[in-house]
Amino acid sequence: MRTQVAIVGAGPAGMLLSHLLAAEGVESVVVETRSEEYVAGRIRAGILEQSSVDLLRSAGLADRLDREADPHRGIYLQWPEERHHLDFVDLTGRSVFVYGQTEVQKDLVAARTAAGQEVHYEVSDTAIHDVETERPSVTFTDGSGAAQRLEADVVVGCDGSFGPSRTTVPAALRRAWEKTYPYSWLGILADVAPSTDELIYAWHPDGFAMHSMRSASVSRLYLQVPHDTDVAAWSDDRIWEALAARLGHGQDGWQLTPGPVTDKSVLPMRSFVQQPMRHGRLFLAGDAAHIVPPTGAKGLNLAVADVALLAPALVALLRQDDARLADAYSETALRRVWRCTHFSWWMTTMLHSGDDPFDQQLQLSQLRWVTSSEAGATGLAENYAGLPIGF
Ligand code: DHB
Repeated sequence: MRTQVAIVGAGPAGMLLSHLLAAEGVESVVVETRSEEYVAGRIRAGILEQSSVDLLRSAGLADRLDREADPHRGIYLQWPEERHHLDFVDLTGRSVFVYGQTEVQKDLVAARTAAGQEVHYEVSDTAIHDVETERPSVTFTDGSGAAQRLEADVVVGCDGSFGPSRTTVPAALRRAWEKTYPYSWLGILADVAPSTDELIYAWHPDGFAMHSMRSASVSRLYLQVPHDTDVAAWSDDRIWEALAARLGHGQDGWQLTPGPVTDKSVLPMRSFVQQPMRHGRLFLAGDAAHIVPPTGAKGLNLAVADVALLAPALVALLRQDDARLADAYSETALRRVWRCTHFSWWMTTMLHSGDDPFDQQLQLSQLRWVTSSEAGATGLAENYAGLPIGF
């Protein structure tokens, strides 16, 4: 097989890239180790920045998003006895939208299917070759067990941190930074109307809690838990009790309404950045190059921002033989990656409580400053609502 761009990974980064390339007349083939149903069903983040929404709109991918996404002006930050609203629209003129990654993925798959995009699901033994030449290729075993070779002008790794793309960059040329946090999140989806109009981020001595949502009838909530937590140890009742305590049920008349839990899982918390994001004719986008902890909901938005830079760079390279944007891609993308890496780390370390009483006082002091100073609030809002693409 031969194509212009071989894309490894059919998640949001890979499918959005194939869409943006096709709009400019560049063809691609996508390979994915998982099944289409698995990729569509995995539950991830739920918040889109303004610039992600703008990009999806300009790519013609936002019809359903414009009907169904819930625009939020800001978030609540709280600690015991106090809840404060930060209004991002007042502070920065930008805001965020509640629209799950599962929904973005459905819209992308529908658009690519309608356009006849070639996607090979359930492939195995994926390997990337000859990226230092002008004829790179991807080999894999397809779903029927046949060995395949996909030749391309360019290979793009959108295959997450466990895929083969990241380590195709020679060890001597890559550098990685990693931080593992000493806690995890227990996340639930529940068939109950959210008990809040906008997201609540709660600092609590028992541990962080968050109230998010997916729609008017589906809530998404998280609890900070120790690393080695077994979900089986957390009954639905125990989860709702911990959420009620940490989110301040009863405080100023606010009530948390529990409901049937439809999904329950433990998420690790990790920061990871690898650079460069380009080696020869291999480019990395999304989780293949960087992982953020979920606090602040940057993961999907960063993947969208990478692809928004990469698509025009590949179009210029392949259609006009102009390598300038492709040569600048890694450095340009990494500026935003490190900004979001810092913001996600900052939100995470401000909100998750540990045993150290000194650290707790610093966290509370930081929270008071962020919620009472316009300068503090604006810094959070600017990062949360998202910097312009290309920042
Ligand atoms: C969600 C997750 C986050 O980490 C966050 O900061 C906001 C929302 C969510 O899954 O809804």
